[in-house]
Amino acid sequence: MTTKGTAALSQKVAFITGGASGIGAALSESLTAAGAQVWIADRQFDVADQLAQRLRSAGARAHAVALDVRDPAAFEAAVAEAVQTSGRLDYLFNNAGIGIGGEVDSLTLEDWTDIIDVNLRGVIHGVRAAYPVMIGQGSGHIVNTASMAGLITTSAQAGYSATKHAVVALSKTLRVEAASHGVQVSVLCPGVVRTPILSGGEYGRNRNVSRENLLKLGEALRPIEPGQFAEQALRGVLRNQAIIVVPRWWKALWYLERLSPTLSMRTAAVALKRTREAASAPLQ
Ligand SMILES: NC(=O)c1ccc[n+]([C@@H]2O[C@H](COP(=O)([O-])OP(=O)(O)OC[C@H]3O[C@@H](n4cnc5c(N)ncnc54)[C@H](O)[C@@H]3O)[C@@H](O)[C@H]2O)c1
Repeated sequence: MTTKGTAALSQKVAFITGGASGIGAALSESLTAAGAQVWIADRQFDVADQLAQRLRSAGARAHAVALDVRDPAAFEAAVAEAVQTSGRLDYLFNNAGIGIGGEVDSLTLEDWTDIIDVNLRGVIHGVRAAYPVMIGQGSGHIVNTASMAGLITTSAQAGYSATKHAVVALSKTLRVEAASHGVQVSVLCPGVVRTPILSGGEYGRNRNVSRENLLKLGEALRPIEPGQFAEQALRGVLRNQAIIVVPRWWKALWYLERLSPTLSMRTAAVALKRTREAASAPLQ
């Protein structure tokens, strides 16, 4: 990031859910490198703690918090502890998420409950915990992680896509409302980033395709590294962009969706064909 960007983050306090792995871990690293203090909140507490220790040994201010975003009271308590200890809250990164893939006829009710609880309710719980604090301060920035799956027609991931569309909708509405309170809201829409979620993540799963074949499908979509993603995403956050698409080339598919939903659905049908081929390919 530029020196100007780095300076803007210095001394800021950020709370990052899903901060132990992938995008959340990379955001934590970039934020601390820019001088921010981070609260790394994750269901995988040991992994979050190891990251916080590593960042502290490099001179950063980093705390690990055990948090399951599905628990609203725990979320509120964790944010309250961060605010009490650090004195304020400048950023909430509502980033924890899971992937549950599979065609609709293969998804169980438990799959639907899990994905909605983590990817949508988790974000709602974060907003409910942090927004009143930020309104009270008259400042703050809520950054929700959705996905390109929240902007375009997808294939074999209806549950995931439904939650991510909901996160985009929530973020846009909240952004409009929050402005008069001095609070900013952005939504991150990653394309494909090389993290464990490409095969579901620690708590996700895929119903139709083996982990190995999923990783192959992901690689075909030219994933970027989490560190690269975090740098570019934070640039968008500092510019207070509403919808931040990284890598930028994915914007072409977003434009296609708006220009011609029919063509976008045809593109999704081609992707579905590839996923079905991967599902019937020998297990690797
Ligand atoms: N990697 C990609 O290609 C990609 C693309 C689009 C969107 N995203 C989104 O980015 C976000 C981060 O994903 P990632 O790619 O870094 O995956 P990841 O699996 O590396 O990280 C997700 C983190 O969330 C945590 N988590 C899961 N459920 C939780 C819960 N209930 N409470 C607290 N923490 C929980 C996991 O322990 C993990 O540390 C997710 O919201 C994901 O949907 C990722």
